[in-house]
Amino acid sequence: MRIAFAASVGPDERAEWLQVLRAACPHHEWLEHWHPGQAADVAVVANPPPGALQGLRGLRLVQSLWAGVERLLQDPTLPAEVPLARMVDPAMNAAMAETAAWAVLSLHRGFFDYARQQREACWRQRPQRRAGTVPVLVLGLGAMGRAVAGRLAALGYPVSAWRRGAAADAPWPGVQVLHGAAALPAALGGAEVLVNLLPLTADTRGILGAPLFAQLPRGASVVNLARGGHLVEPDLLAALDAGHLRHAVLDVFATEPLPPGHPFWTHPCVTVLPHVAALTDARSAAGVVAANLGRLERGEPPLHLVDRGRGY
Ligand code: NAP
Ligand code: GLV
Repeated sequence: MRIAFAASVGPDERAEWLQVLRAACPHHEWLEHWHPGQAADVAVVANPPPGALQGLRGLRLVQSLWAGVERLLQDPTLPAEVPLARMVDPAMNAAMAETAAWAVLSLHRGFFDYARQQREACWRQRPQRRAGTVPVLVLGLGAMGRAVAGRLAALGYPVSAWRRGAAADAPWPGVQVLHGAAALPAALGGAEVLVNLLPLTADTRGILGAPLFAQLPRGASVVNLARGGHLVEPDLLAALDAGHLRHAVLDVFATEPLPPGHPFWTHPCVTVLPHVAALTDARSAAGVVAANLGRLERGEPPLHLVDRGRGY
């Protein structure tokens, strides 16, 4: 098969990706550049700019190397009839679980406060609480949310997880699975830490805003590991400055890189990560790609297809 590769990365990263992908799928022809009307069976893409696949003919699959596909879905030049598969990779889910565990542990044990105290040369011991007294609510119970909810429950936190469809089996004994808009207010009211792992869709854009924050108890914290478009940044700053929210851990932003001078950089109650909660792991992701290309060659349906109607 002929595979077109499109990515929003620098030349070194592009070369690394192509090396790993070619090694995992050696019997395919990989295209880096194409002319209008050129035929390709599959496009393998890493968050490419809109229009990147324009001109390709005969595509049977677009395979994303990213888990979140909202940028691809917003590209009017992406052929609507071509199936779109997103990256679902246990290595990436595990990385996300590590990031969430670090954030929740740091909030629960006051490690962000101790980091601030160190900058002020302040020696002050804070009360040590048990994990079992810190309820965590995970928004989204997909590939990432399940890994996160399971890891947090294993660490001893009382975990609830919220999804769109009917309640499913819990990813870990004791995780309370909730679904639908009606279940959200009570879940928010009982949460001390909120971890967002929703996809960015028309329904979820701006969900982390003033109305949601008002339903969290005073002193709750927010961890956004999904997309910047979920967060209404001025509402978060207002809730932090009013003391309603205690801390925010943010990995994703409306504008990335986070612009110099943005208030999040210096806010004492905000921890900034540069969109690294779960980077695609090239070696295992190449295996996921190879498996889906194999399915296509055998006439089997590709795995992890996006439902364009739902937007994820
Ligand atoms: P996924 O498997 O598609 O799971 C999405 C979950 O969100 C599902 O449980 C779904 O409910 C739920 N959901 C969707 N819309 C909802 C709504 N309106 N109300 C309630 N629940 C809703 O996605 P994933 O692989 O877990 O990834 C989640 C997101 O993480 C990605 O879209 C991406 O934005 C982000 N991400 C960030 C990084 C990073 O480094 N920061 C890395 C990877 C991914 P159902 O179960 O009912 O369908
Ligand atoms: C990263 O944010 C991804 O969606 O894979």
